[in-house]
Amino acid sequence: MKVIYTAKDMQELSIQLQRQGKTIGFVPTMGFLHEGHLALLKQARAENDVVVLSIFVNPTQFGPNEDFDTYPRDFKRDERLAKAEEADYLFYPSVDEMYPGQASISISVTNRVDVLCGAKRPGHFDGVATVLTKLFHLVQPKRAYFGKKDAQQVAVVHGLITDFKFPIELVAVDTVREDDGLAKSSRNVNLLDAERNEAPALYRSLQEAKQLVESGERDVATIKAQIERTIKNNTRGTIDYVAIYSYPELEPLNKLDGQFIIALAIQFSKARLIDNIIMAI
Ligand code: PAF
Repeated sequence: MKVIYTAKDMQELSIQLQRQGKTIGFVPTMGFLHEGHLALLKQARAENDVVVLSIFVNPTQFGPNEDFDTYPRDFKRDERLAKAEEADYLFYPSVDEMYPGQASISISVTNRVDVLCGAKRPGHFDGVATVLTKLFHLVQPKRAYFGKKDAQQVAVVHGLITDFKFPIELVAVDTVREDDGLAKSSRNVNLLDAERNEAPALYRSLQEAKQLVESGERDVATIKAQIERTIKNNTRGTIDYVAIYSYPELEPLNKLDGQFIIALAIQFSKARLIDNIIMAI
């Protein structure tokens, strides 16, 4: 596996690979890889000639009071894991490399951003769309892999690829979970021991909601209330949101219909965890 540090080297390589008729599978990440990322790499390995992983903690998607500085980083460990998953290239640019000087153009995401995590993180998806636009131009993938845990991100990336006509297939991969159901996340390391013990209640509450739907419940308020009860009774976390929207449109619903997402975000002392399930009736 070769590590690439500059935008120029990355782009020259992808142009060369394109000329050779090789398909590039791209896994964009912010590093501190966990099994969720490894599942993306595995699928990319199975479906493409060449696999490119990027590690870049993107400052433009963090708000002023968010955890950019404390976001976990461990390049050597990531490099080892990526090698073990047989990634061919690891693109590891610096902030200056991705954002040299004052920007002259900004990307603003106008749809699906005022709900879920986007509502509390103004500008977050503008930063995600900006960095992905740059990365897509540099890596020129045929397929790009994203985890369904960030379901709003998947919906926004779908909009980015469609609106800007990137010739890229978006591949959404199932959430990888710990044995107790907790969704794998780089932020889980920031949970206190007691919070880590409580955190499986998040997925449990989603499973209870699923059972309610399967037993015929269609009222959104009733389902949300059940989830909130489980979170409050079993964790010391603060509910940021429990929400149900149509998916991938992310429009509000009173009664369940078609495909929808049941999503939650819970703030613990040093970690904000998200999880979701997507269902259809
Ligand atoms: O999901 C992430 O890790 C980031 O939002 C992404 C897609 C790598 C863009 O910085």
